Amino acid sequence: MATQPEPAADGAAASPLSPFRGSSAAPNEPVPDSFSFDMPRDPQWFKRAVFYEVLVRGFHDSNADGTGDIRGLISQLHYLEWLGIDCIWLLPIYASPLKDGGYDISDFMEILPEFGTIGDFVELVEQAHARGMRVIADLVMNHTSDQHPWFQASRSDPDGPYGDFYMWSDTDDQYPEARIIFVDTEQSNWTFDPVRGQYYWHRFFHHQPDLNYENPRVQDAMLEVLRFWLDLGIDGFRLDAVPYLYAREGTNCENLKETHEYLRRVRTEVDRLYPDRVLLAEANQWPTDVVQYFGDPTVGGDECHMAFHFPLMPRIFMAVRREQRYPISEILAQTPQIPSGCQWGIFLRNHDELTLEMVTDEERDYMYSEYVKDPRMKANIGIRRRLAPLLDNDRNQLELFTALLLSLPGSPVLYYGDEIGMGDNIWLGDRDSVRTPMQWTPDRNGGFSRCDHQRIYLQPNNDPIYGYQALNVEAQHRDTGSLLHWTRRMIEIRKRHPVFALGVYSELTGSNPSVLAFVRHHADPSEPVRSPGGERTSTASEPVGSPGGERTSTASEPVGSPRGERTSTASEPGGFPILCVNNLSRFPQPVELDLSKYNGYTPVECMGGVAFPPVGDLSYLLTLPGHGFYWFVLEPPAAG
Ligand code: NOJ
Ligand code: CA
Repeated sequence: MATQPEPAADGAAASPLSPFRGSSAAPNEPVPDSFSFDMPRDPQWFKRAVFYEVLVRGFHDSNADGTGDIRGLISQLHYLEWLGIDCIWLLPIYASPLKDGGYDISDFMEILPEFGTIGDFVELVEQAHARGMRVIADLVMNHTSDQHPWFQASRSDPDGPYGDFYMWSDTDDQYPEARIIFVDTEQSNWTFDPVRGQYYWHRFFHHQPDLNYENPRVQDAMLEVLRFWLDLGIDGFRLDAVPYLYAREGTNCENLKETHEYLRRVRTEVDRLYPDRVLLAEANQWPTDVVQYFGDPTVGGDECHMAFHFPLMPRIFMAVRREQRYPISEILAQTPQIPSGCQWGIFLRNHDELTLEMVTDEERDYMYSEYVKDPRMKANIGIRRRLAPLLDNDRNQLELFTALLLSLPGSPVLYYGDEIGMGDNIWLGDRDSVRTPMQWTPDRNGGFSRCDHQRIYLQPNNDPIYGYQALNVEAQHRDTGSLLHWTRRMIEIRKRHPVFALGVYSELTGSNPSVLAFVRHHADPSEPVRSPGGERTSTASEPVGSPGGERTSTASEPVGSPRGERTSTASEPGGFPILCVNNLSRFPQPVELDLSKYNGYTPVECMGGVAFPPVGDLSYLLTLPGHGFYWFVLEPPAAG
């Protein structure tokens, strides 16, 4: 389908983003809509993709009713294309009473009318594909809203066809080892239903009863839901809350083998009928438990193609505040290898609280003491703040965190608004603090909606630092030094070097614990490397052989001269290695790196293309400003 200019549909105001149309950025290749198993579009696209999480409700309102909608998102697709996004992840768009941001679904095959229609959804997918972007959506398999007709039937007619769709019990004492997840609001995983006169099981809010996966009809019903959306052209799903599908007495009711069996069945169905789609697991678990969601490594993975790396995220915040690389180094070292067909999803912030479930008690106390300046900032076991305020709006830290997001192993997932450094509003309830409207312009309602101000689903940020008058897409687009432009440029650099997406991660132990240095490189079968996931292949304690003995740089340009933009194409499949050096300290730091493996290589800085002195026999000395970082292409000496 041909690319459409952004519509002014439904009488919407002219898009605040018209300037992006004239962008000189190379457009993404369109995603062909017709494809087959013989001609798949690109089965591994998700390994290279930059993801962007969109709250449809908060992104853009096309019809001035105060709620963002699918047509509003369509009208802003050109912005996401301009930014370099490859895949949009939609937060739930289904019919819902919206008591949990749409994770409380009352009809899996209807779109919430405020958000649009099925026709709008199909158009979104087509228009995104025409712009070279894919679309995945949240799918909640574990539970429904208590408003769902299945639950209504189940509670009122225990012997009817839906009587066994949920987990009912005469008592509330089963599965005592299952933790409570929403500790702020729930006292038990059981709630009494006066209509049926029994208790029902729920891992989240009491208005979200868990489905009963022991019932084969539930298993089939959810597969039908998947097929419904896949038939409409969706590129995949983020599978919400997957660890909890089954419960068993004597366990904590997480990660059970029955859950994995069902996910394998889901994957088989997707592979059978729908090539090129992705399943992304939301399993907030320790690395050894999460990797189980990729499935069997001997076949490259047979459950989910991707899984979020939850334990890594808080450790990035910890490492920078402690000015020590160890939290990141250690969690990556503990992360097992993942199957060849799989990829991590990594993130800094999302629509939930910054979860602290996957840290020790001591680490949690540390995070609270450092990042919670007001008790209102806490939610459940986490911190309900956005990235920029967490980092005191410090540009250097914002850049360092984003650079880590774009260079650590996995596909990066950006949260809407973080690319312009949006703030939060801790005076709003629950996780609404981080779900305020996208700030497009300094105009009324931040360009999000033309409705009366009072009508908006949540008030846009209006404070002197993060308010839309000062902080918005339009202003940052005009300012080439803005965080927005900087982020776009970094995404562009990442995508120019596929080794960031596909390469092995090898951490270097340098002389300075405040500096996290690693090389992203393609696996050389002759080297003892393991796949991305935290192995160290060349530590200072393990002598590494240089690939060709002592060499001198053959680079013709003098050190310090820009070599222009470097694209990793050259001789090595997927490109030259990339060296990433990150100063986690707020003060300038020197570091001596053991780059003996790259003796003779020339580090060429990725942003400016400036050649640094070639690597020689001695350890490689760099100095970094506070919270500074470098990305270097390691160019091998010319042959001969
Ligand atoms: C995880 C989602 O990210 C969160 O927003 C939601 O409340 C729970 N799952 C329950 O569906
Ligand atoms: Ca609307």
